[in-house]
Amino acid sequence: MLRQQDVGHRIVVRRIVGIREGRPQFSDALGELVELSETHLTLATAQGQLRVPVAQVHRAKRVPPTRRPTAAAVVALERAADEAWPAPTRGRLGDWLLRSAEGWTGRANSALPIGDPDRPLAAAVDAVERWYAERGQPALINTPLPLAAPVGAELDARGWGTRPPTLVQTAPLPLPASTPAGGQADLWGAAVVELAAAPSDEWLAIAAGRKGGLPDAARHVLTAVDQVRFAHVYADGALVAVGRGTVTGQGRWLGLSLIEVVPAVRRQGLARRVIHELASWGVSGGATHAFLQVEQRNAAAVALYQRLGLVTHHTYLTRVAPN
Ligand SMILES: CC(C)(COP(=O)(O)OP(=O)(O)OC[C@H]1O[C@@H](n2cnc3c(N)ncnc32)[C@H](O)[C@@H]1OP(=O)(O)O)[C@@H](O)C(=O)NCCC(=O)NCCS
Repeated sequence: MLRQQDVGHRIVVRRIVGIREGRPQFSDALGELVELSETHLTLATAQGQLRVPVAQVHRAKRVPPTRRPTAAAVVALERAADEAWPAPTRGRLGDWLLRSAEGWTGRANSALPIGDPDRPLAAAVDAVERWYAERGQPALINTPLPLAAPVGAELDARGWGTRPPTLVQTAPLPLPASTPAGGQADLWGAAVVELAAAPSDEWLAIAAGRKGGLPDAARHVLTAVDQVRFAHVYADGALVAVGRGTVTGQGRWLGLSLIEVVPAVRRQGLARRVIHELASWGVSGGATHAFLQVEQRNAAAVALYQRLGLVTHHTYLTRVAPN
């Protein structure tokens, strides 16, 4: 039978779905175990969530992970990522999400085409174009792959552009302890990482520099999450490293964002320190996994995350409507 340690893993459940001529009828379900209580277990399957009363479970066991995440896992992670970066203006097209934040970041100003848009695909893309046109914004759609490949094909046919790929990376928590390469003393091993519930003005200035300004909507995107922390590291009174952590996705996912170290003190282990502090905070808040989004072409950040044990879960492309 299953135990709490199996939550987050892929399992198969044989359940009793009826009795015919005095014999039990079985049905098998495969998916990720997202919750286990005394009375029910909840599975994220490729078809969506399935809640099974424990009394109906004939047999259940862990199975090896697939090399590719299931569609359900991609959907769950994309929704947790959306919660972690909440656009203030939102709409729905069936299951698809429409998001707008005064143009601040692609993520908060793009449609997320996962699930059923409640209309044919071409009509759904038309509706996305109209929604953004009404707000005077270019239409963007983030397509997680391969899940949203059919949407991508429709956008190709319409001549939509493509921004460089973004990797969505994950790691189980806690992160493994990491030591500086080559035995070099870790200059910042004892640095104090302050985790504040709100960003300081200097923190916001770094975010503004990175993301090109800071409209009112940006403050909402950064702070309108129940569990959020803003990492600050000061040296001689100046802010030298920042980061942001959130816990979303029903408490499972620590989201890491806006990790940045000022150029003068890079390659001294500061980003690692910030991430480890945020990870410890996430674990204390109940998170079992970390995720982040990084542009594939950001070599320094990709190397950093690889060093910390993060692996690519899936990728997405930000698609841009032609003028
Ligand atoms: C990415 C960034 C946060 C790294 O910060 P940092 O404090 O220099 O990173 P660390 O010193 O903790 O690096 C830890 C490890 O990451 C890897 N790494 C970091 N920067 C690297 C680089 N430029 N090239 C190759 N590997 C790098 C190395 O393995 C490094 O360990 P080592 O120095 O012992 O070899 C920093 O370059 C930065 O602020 N970049 C701009 C903002 C950004 O891109 N943020 C990420 C957005 S997703």
